[in-house]
Amino acid sequence: MTNRELFECAMQARENSYSPYSHFMVGAALLTRDGKVYTGCNIENASYTPTICAERTAFFKAVSEGVRDFEKIAICGSPEGPLVQMATPCGVCRQVMMEFCDPDKFEIVLGAGPEQLEVYTLKQLLPMGFGPSDLEQ
Ligand code: THU
Repeated sequence: MTNRELFECAMQARENSYSPYSHFMVGAALLTRDGKVYTGCNIENASYTPTICAERTAFFKAVSEGVRDFEKIAICGSPEGPLVQMATPCGVCRQVMMEFCDPDKFEIVLGAGPEQLEVYTLKQLLPMGFGPSDLEQ
């Protein structure tokens, strides 16, 4: 699966965004090492704090099905309507990535459209991150 194809999966997932409060629609597509894609969108709530980001929706769908081996994630987000800007993952989502992914290897594909993608490692977006290995005795 190319980065472009994965990003297009994220754009499709963004269509399901439930964001009546922020009106900011986000989609994510998480690629597993065996080639499966788990998608997610942001899901907001009238009580605000239960809101979950698109990235964590995708991760938690996969992990809840027993999958923990991830290669990359594509993310797209912008105000409702067509995609017009690049969105970067929030700090909480970066920390969730840190739980399951090797920061040197896991890739984050961002862009304002499928033709203008930028790729970062998790380490680039979360330098000196705290993860499971820090708790090893
Ligand atoms: N959002 C995401 O889905 N992912 C991010 O990484 C940043 C923020 C969502 C949460 C909320 O529904 C909306 O975007 C505005 O913050």
